[in-house]
Amino acid sequence: MDVLINVFVALHIIGIASLLGGFLTQMKAMGAGTPRFSPAMLHGALTMLVTGVALVGLNQADDQTVNNLKIGIKLAVLVVILGLVYVKRDEEKVDKGLFAAVGGLTTANIFIATLWV
Ligand code: HEM
Repeated sequence: MDVLINVFVALHIIGIASLLGGFLTQMKAMGAGTPRFSPAMLHGALTMLVTGVALVGLNQADDQTVNNLKIGIKLAVLVVILGLVYVKRDEEKVDKGLFAAVGGLTTANIFIATLWV
């Protein structure tokens, strides 16, 4: 079971790489006021949701404690990210502030995941 959990943690991290990486590639465009939500960001956010839910199930099946408040906050933040990226996925440029908010929320979730024990 440990191996399976670790495989899903790895997939979870690949999801972060895609979501945050997609954001970082748009920094220059954001400076110019023309950022867009790339497919990498949408697929990264979806990967986070699927692997995160799977991790909750796997940890519970393995009788490991899951911090429900922490996971609940991460889930709520991700739902906002996913909603914004999904709705605006076809727009060729999105509002700079909205785009920055998605990067900020993603970064916040990384710190919640790593600093909150
Ligand atoms: C942008 C969204 C997210 C980010 C950046 C993120 C980040 C991370 C990171 C860095 C880890 C590994 C560090 C650790 O084990 O503490 C992790 C683990 C985990 N994540 Fe996420 N996560 C996100 C969304 C979610 C969602 C939506 C769920 C569940 C619905 C979830 C559930 C979990 C679980 C169960 C673990 C392993 C157990 C633990 O918290 O220690 N994550 N996440």
